[in-house]
Amino acid sequence: MLEKFSKWKASFSTNEPIDSKSVTEIPKHVAIIMDGNGRWAKQKGLPRIAGHREGMKVINKIVRQANNLGVEILTLYAFSTENWKRPKTEVDYLMKLPERFLGIELPKLIEQNVKVRLMGSLENLPEHTLLAVQKAVHETRNNTGLVLNFALNYGSRFEILEAMKAIAQQVQSGQLKEQDINEELLNKYLMTSDLRDPDLLIRTSGEIRLSNFMLWQLAYSEFWFTDVLWPDFNEEHFADAIAVYQKRARRYGGI
Ligand code: IPE
Ligand code: IPE
Ligand code: MG
Repeated sequence: MLEKFSKWKASFSTNEPIDSKSVTEIPKHVAIIMDGNGRWAKQKGLPRIAGHREGMKVINKIVRQANNLGVEILTLYAFSTENWKRPKTEVDYLMKLPERFLGIELPKLIEQNVKVRLMGSLENLPEHTLLAVQKAVHETRNNTGLVLNFALNYGSRFEILEAMKAIAQQVQSGQLKEQDINEELLNKYLMTSDLRDPDLLIRTSGEIRLSNFMLWQLAYSEFWFTDVLWPDFNEEHFADAIAVYQKRARRYGGI
């Protein structure tokens, strides 16, 4: 045990307690709430959109690293169903970012064998935004590397309500019985139906909340919070989060 401990201590700089049940593998699904762009810009006396532009640049670095480390799914919270409350100019800018990002990065994502995926309420997205992302989804559909899942106009309560409505309709029409409703069935109606639940959730910028993100899917995920603002987030922070994850004991209610 002592030997194990010094090995860990040498390789990681975190102070997390170590449990003998710790996981040692790389988290297969990492979800990130990329927060703090506005505050980053404010600290520098810049408009909020400058923070979003800088934050966009971080995505590429983290995707590359996640892919190299063997993470299978990377879910990024890019725009929530509540973010429409922001001033129109900011929302318009945020809706242009997927095009900008993919315009530059899509060839590199293809080269890295990344498969782009989308979850959210797609009907309300501007056409130009939706088309850009759908093009990326289409062009990467046969890739077998990291799944890059963008949560765009995503809200967990909306997602769960939509699933409930769809299930209710099936019950009403007699295609499903009440007894058929279980966790597995509900999973099939969520926007993550083909994905495993996140193993690790990262949120930047010091906020300790979920902000309507994957409420069902995060039931047994490990959480890691940092004060670092998203535009300052880098490969080292990501490695720290994973190192902390690897020291956690996931008990799922057992002992
Ligand atoms: C995260 O940064 C990006 C989005 C929510 C789209 P914010 O824009 O929320 O930045 P802060 O929280 O105001 O600093
Ligand atoms: C969550 O961040 C949404 C995204 C990162 C896309 P917010 O900045 O919108 O969350 P709150 O308002 O601080 O809870
Ligand atoms: Mg925020």
